[in-house]
Order: sequence, then C-alpha cells, then structure tokens
Amino acid sequence: MAHGEEFKFLVKRGGGLLLSCRRRLAQISTEFTDRKSAKGFSSMNISSTETAKAGVTVAPTGGALGAEIRNADLRTIDDRDFAVMSGAWHDHAVLLVRGQELNDEDLVTFSKRFGELDWAPVQESGRRFVEGHPEIYVVSNVVENGVPIGSLGAGEATWHTDMSYLEVPPKASILYALEVPASGGDTYFNNMYAAYEGLPEELKRRIEGLSLKHDGTYNSGGYLRQGVTAVDDPRTSPGTYHPLVCSHPETRRRALYLGRRRNAYIAGLPLAESESLLDELWAYATRAELAWGHQWRPGDLVLWDNRCTMHRRDSFDAASRRVMHRTQIRDEVAPRP
Ligand code: SIN
Repeated sequence: MAHGEEFKFLVKRGGGLLLSCRRRLAQISTEFTDRKSAKGFSSMNISSTETAKAGVTVAPTGGALGAEIRNADLRTIDDRDFAVMSGAWHDHAVLLVRGQELNDEDLVTFSKRFGELDWAPVQESGRRFVEGHPEIYVVSNVVENGVPIGSLGAGEATWHTDMSYLEVPPKASILYALEVPASGGDTYFNNMYAAYEGLPEELKRRIEGLSLKHDGTYNSGGYLRQGVTAVDDPRTSPGTYHPLVCSHPETRRRALYLGRRRNAYIAGLPLAESESLLDELWAYATRAELAWGHQWRPGDLVLWDNRCTMHRRDSFDAASRRVMHRTQIRDEVAPRP
C-alpha cells in the first residue's frame, strides 16, 4: 500500500489508530533519504518537524525557507487541507508537493484556489501560451519543427522574481514538472525577508524610502522579451519602479524586493552609485545560507511567494528534455513599503 493510502486507511479506522498512524509516519520519515542530501542540498529534517494536521503533513526543509507538503493529491484537496497548505505557504514561502498527476486543466484549477491567474508572458518565440490555456507559461528547452515550445532554453536562469516589471506583479507562481533531465536544471529559492533582516542597520537606513526599477527588457535566461528593443542603459530601459523594501500584505513582514539585477536602477541616484549600492545589496541577498535548492522529479509541483523570495535555475544538457508548466497568481495590490 502506498504511504498516502496507508495514512488514509489508518485514519478511517478511528481515533484509536491515530497514534499508530503518527508512529508510522515518523518511521516513514526516518526511512526517507532525500537524494538531494547526497549532492549537498539541505536535507529535510522530517522526523522532528513533521506536523500531522488533517490529511496533509508539512515537513520544513530545515533550510532558510521551504517545506514539503505530503499526503496531498492536488486534484482533490479539500478545504481543510488547502487551509493547512496556505498557512504553510505563508510560514515557509516555498512549498514542494511531489508525485502529482496533473493535466493542464488540473493545474489551472488548483492554481485558481489561490486567486485569479495572470496570463502567461509572451514566450521568446512570440508564442503566448498553451492552446486553450492562456494562464500557462511553458518553461522548456524543447524545440519542435524548429520552434522552441517554451522559454529559457537550457542555460542558467539568473536570480529573479517573476514578472516584477509589471505594475502589479503576480503574488505567487506554481511550477509543475512534466519532463526533467537526468541531472542539472535544479531550481534554488532564497529568503528575501532574511535578506532584509540581515542587512547592517546603516544599510537599512540608506535604502529606506528608495525605489528600484525592475527591467522589462530581458528575461532571466538573458533573452530579449518579444516586442522590446534591446536597451542596456538601466536609466532608460523599459521597466517599472517598486519600493526597494516592501511589506508583505499578508504576513506584514518586510522584505528586500530586488526583482533582477540586469538593468536595475535606483531612482534618483547617479548610475555609478546605483550600481554599487545594488551590488552591495545583491551580495547580501544571494548568500548561500539564505537559499534552498530543489532537484526535480516528474510530477513535482513547487509553489512560491514572489513577494518574499527570488529564484534561479541551473543550466542542463541541451540535448536532454525539460518541460515545465507554470501558472502565475495575480496579486490584489501593487508592492508597497
Ligand atoms: C522560472 O523562472 O519560473 C523557471 C524556473 C525553472 O525553470 O526552474
């Protein structure tokens, strides 16, 4: 019997069995060896931190952010389990759910539980979205009939926050793995609350009240966005200004909001001063201890909060296939201090 089914079966047999169920979960947790640990990823500290709440369980990564949600089938998740998941999302900023079997319809339906969806950005090929699903962005290196089916190719995608060049960027993104390479293509997330909180007080004072331009010229793979002319002067490139330090509308915590490094510009500063202040902030924000990395398997779904995290992706062998479908959940408010 699969672990999830075993859990449900034991719960059905009544409260008396709940204890044995918890013991079994603890046992399963101890047996669990994440293959990431062999590669130096932060391993999940399951047995001490897993909390049984309703049907799903929440297992923090033990790193700077992130948790795994277990015993979840996202096609049928009920309101109670969804509430646990939402709470965990606010607590941990990034959630991983493994072993899902979602078609595009399921992905959109699940994503909509978090709110309205933004339409996917135009892909590098000029294609906009999956036929019939304007909300789905394809991240892929696969080329069919000479045309890439998605964006970002097989190279590194540098640290960024999704679509922060919009006036109201999406509050969350959900990435679902359909095909993954045997190695490479791992995605890393970092904790921008911790990035802000860890700044020296003098630096916090210096950036208070400043606004930052979030570039709309290039995507994180370094590709020019469709319909945009290449501009490499951060003062004149297209983009949107947001506060450099933002308050999360739900958690109320303050986070550094950097978006992406290329063509970033701090309003009102001479270019050289803006560049050196940004270099200083980026050095704090991208420290290894603020990050957690995920090595994908097909069927993995990762949900992240764009308001308090950034992410980047490793390159991988261009001859292998990586196909991911992403949705973006619309925010109700623009970033604010
Ligand atoms: C993204 O930046 O949304 C894609 C990340 C990835 O390909 O892992």
